[in-house]
Amino acid sequence: MEHFTYYAPTEVVFGVGTEEQCPAYVKQYGGSRVFVVYGGGSVKRSGLLERVTKALRQAGLAVESFGGAKPNPTVAHVREGIQAAVSFGADFVLAIGGGSSIDTAKAIAHGTANPEQDIWSIWTREVPLERSLPVGVILTISAAGSEMSDSAVLTNEEIHRKRGINTRFNRAKFAILNPELTYTLPKEQIACGTTDIMMHTLDRYFNPVENELTDALAEALLRTVIQFGTKALEDPADYQAQSELMWAGSLSHNGLTGLGGKPDFAVHQLGHELSARFDVAHGASLAAVWGAWAEYVCPTKVSRFARYARNVWGVTESEDAKAADEGIRKTVDYFASLGMPTGLGGCIGVQNDEIVRDMAYRCAYEGTRTIGTFRVLNQQDIYEIYRKANH
Ligand code: NZQ
Ligand code: ZN
Repeated sequence: MEHFTYYAPTEVVFGVGTEEQCPAYVKQYGGSRVFVVYGGGSVKRSGLLERVTKALRQAGLAVESFGGAKPNPTVAHVREGIQAAVSFGADFVLAIGGGSSIDTAKAIAHGTANPEQDIWSIWTREVPLERSLPVGVILTISAAGSEMSDSAVLTNEEIHRKRGINTRFNRAKFAILNPELTYTLPKEQIACGTTDIMMHTLDRYFNPVENELTDALAEALLRTVIQFGTKALEDPADYQAQSELMWAGSLSHNGLTGLGGKPDFAVHQLGHELSARFDVAHGASLAAVWGAWAEYVCPTKVSRFARYARNVWGVTESEDAKAADEGIRKTVDYFASLGMPTGLGGCIGVQNDEIVRDMAYRCAYEGTRTIGTFRVLNQQDIYEIYRKANH
């Protein structure tokens, strides 16, 4: 095992009706003026926003709402939110929604605590982040894991850059997880979410270090998500399926399934380029490149892919190379069964070579960085993977 620090301080409140406890948790974590961040309107249509804001006001808290966080949330929208939160005098930010609302809320919390700084300079790390406001979450989609993660991702539309920052200030104080709140999800979002949950563990599992306990936890999580992702898609109101997905989503990205390893996250970096440039939904962007990535890096350590195939997919083939191939094929087939794209053609269309080269150039930050740890990928490797996925 590599050395690690495990800090996952978010208080998880799981179960039917738990959103009713929101005012108490806001108070517990010091909130009195609550800036509520939500997305494009699903929480308005379901009545959740009104129920929660009413309960907050009845508990004597001041409330201001700020909607409009969209998938692949933008810096421009966050800047508007920061202005509104500063003039409201917010001392607590509450996200109601999924990763896009939560990441917008985190960014607004950072910006409101540092009003003299532009938020993008915090994102690019020109300015160190040393304080923020507390953030709470009521989750409505199992996917990004932002409710427990130390990460937040924004897109700067002006320069087509999608970037995340990892900091302890991104850890939410509490996360309210009521699986019933996901029943209204469109099937496409359940599919994207299932893919993203799997990918947060896959991007940790495929790394150069082997650790039995961490690997076994990762495999159990993957088996669970594969099983219940299909069930939730068949019946979005299946409580057990949505429960399993919700808890898996939080555990998959709070650090647990990669402890003691060297997280890879190359597939996430490959996918972010698709979202930054073509606004592809996050989960879909990952499914579109995973197969090409896996085939490209598998020869680096075939035994790892063989173990994955046997322990996650029940492959019985005894020869490692064949088992590894079967595991990759089963994974890609699973994404296809969810309706996810398994190549660029299914999401951004087949691209000409000039664009594929430019995507690689940008993913490698103009040739200044490599990505991944399982196999370290430079700009040329990234190009080869995009080319393989270009079908
Ligand atoms: O915006 P509304 O109207 O709420 O609709 C959303 C949105 O269209 C809808 N939705 C959510 N809950 C619903 C619902 N519709 C009906 N009923 C409900 N209960 O679903 C759509 C997707 O929502 P979004 O918040 O975008 O989903 P997700 O949780 O997948 O978040 C994606 C964002 O998170 C980032 C992604 O890059 C992307 O920007 N990520 C954040 C991470 C983190 N902070 O740790 C890690 C991830 O790897 C990821 O990068
Ligand atoms: Zn993700």
